[in-house]
Amino acid sequence: MSDAKVQVRQLTKGFGELLVLDNLTFDVRPGEFLCVVGPTGCGKTTLLNLLSSWWTPTQGEICIDGRAMDPKTQNLSFVFQESSAFPWLTVEQNVQFGMKEKRFPPELIAQRTREVMGLLDLESVKEKYCHEISASAEQRVVIGRSFALHPDFLLMDEPYAQLDIKFRLHLEDAILALNRSTGSTCLFVTHNIEEAVYLAQRCIVLSNKPTSIKAVRTIDLPYPRDTCSPEFIAIKDEITEMIKWW
Ligand SMILES: Nc1ncnc2c1ncn2[C@@H]1O[C@H](COP(=O)(O)OP(=O)(O)OP(=O)(O)O)[C@@H](O)[C@H]1O
Ligand SMILES: [Mg+2]
Repeated sequence: MSDAKVQVRQLTKGFGELLVLDNLTFDVRPGEFLCVVGPTGCGKTTLLNLLSSWWTPTQGEICIDGRAMDPKTQNLSFVFQESSAFPWLTVEQNVQFGMKEKRFPPELIAQRTREVMGLLDLESVKEKYCHEISASAEQRVVIGRSFALHPDFLLMDEPYAQLDIKFRLHLEDAILALNRSTGSTCLFVTHNIEEAVYLAQRCIVLSNKPTSIKAVRTIDLPYPRDTCSPEFIAIKDEITEMIKWW
C-alpha cells in the first residue's frame, strides 16, 4: 500500500505526431507542496490539464487516495495562469463562491472565510470589487477562493506570472501558510526556479520535449527560506544547470 495522496503512472500525452509528455511517473505525498519546473513549452500546462481531468492522457493513469481520479467525487481545485476574480462579486463573495456552490453549511463558510481572508490579508478590502483592488490583491482572492474549499488536491499554474517579482515572495508566504492550515496537497507549476526553491518540499525538474522527469530534488531548507543563503543559492544553481543544458 502506497502512502501517496496522488499517484501518477506512466503518464503520456501527444498531439498527433508531437509527443509532449513521455512516460511520467511520480507521487505527491499527503499535504505536500510539490513544484514542477521545466523549460518553456515542455508541457507544464499540459500536465496540469491532465491532472485536472480536462484532458485525457494518451496513456497512463492518475489515482487519488488509491482510486482513479474523478473530479465529480474528489475534491480538486485549480488556479490557472489566466485565472481572475469574478468581477460581479465582492472580494468576500469571491472567496465564498465555491463553498456556496457546494452548499457548505453557513457556519463552515463563515469559519473558512475568516481563515482565508486572515491569512491572505484581505479583511480590509472584503467589501470591494476586483476593479477597486490591486492586481496582487486580486491574485490573493483567486488563491483564497480555491483554498477555502480545503481541496484534497490543489493545482496551480504560474498563478503570479503577471505580477511583479516584489509581490511574489509575500504571496508565496501566504500560500505556504494556507497549505499548512488547510492540509491540502499542492502541486505548483512554474518556470521560475527561485520561486520553486522558495516554496517546494520537493521539486520535479522536467526536460525538453519529449518531456521526461530529469530529477526529483528534495528541498529540506527550513521555512521561511532565505533567498540569499548559500544553501538556497546552491540548490537554485543546481536546478538552473539541469534546465540550461537542453
Ligand atoms: N491543444 C493542443 N494541440 C496541439 N499542441 C498542443 C496543444 N496544447 C499544447 N500543445 C503543445 O504542447 C507543448 C507543450 O505546451 P504547454 O503549454 O503544455 O507547455 P508549457 O510548459 O506550459 O509552456 P509555458 O512555459 O509557455 O507555459 C507545446 O509544444 C504546445 O505547442
Ligand atoms: Mg504553461
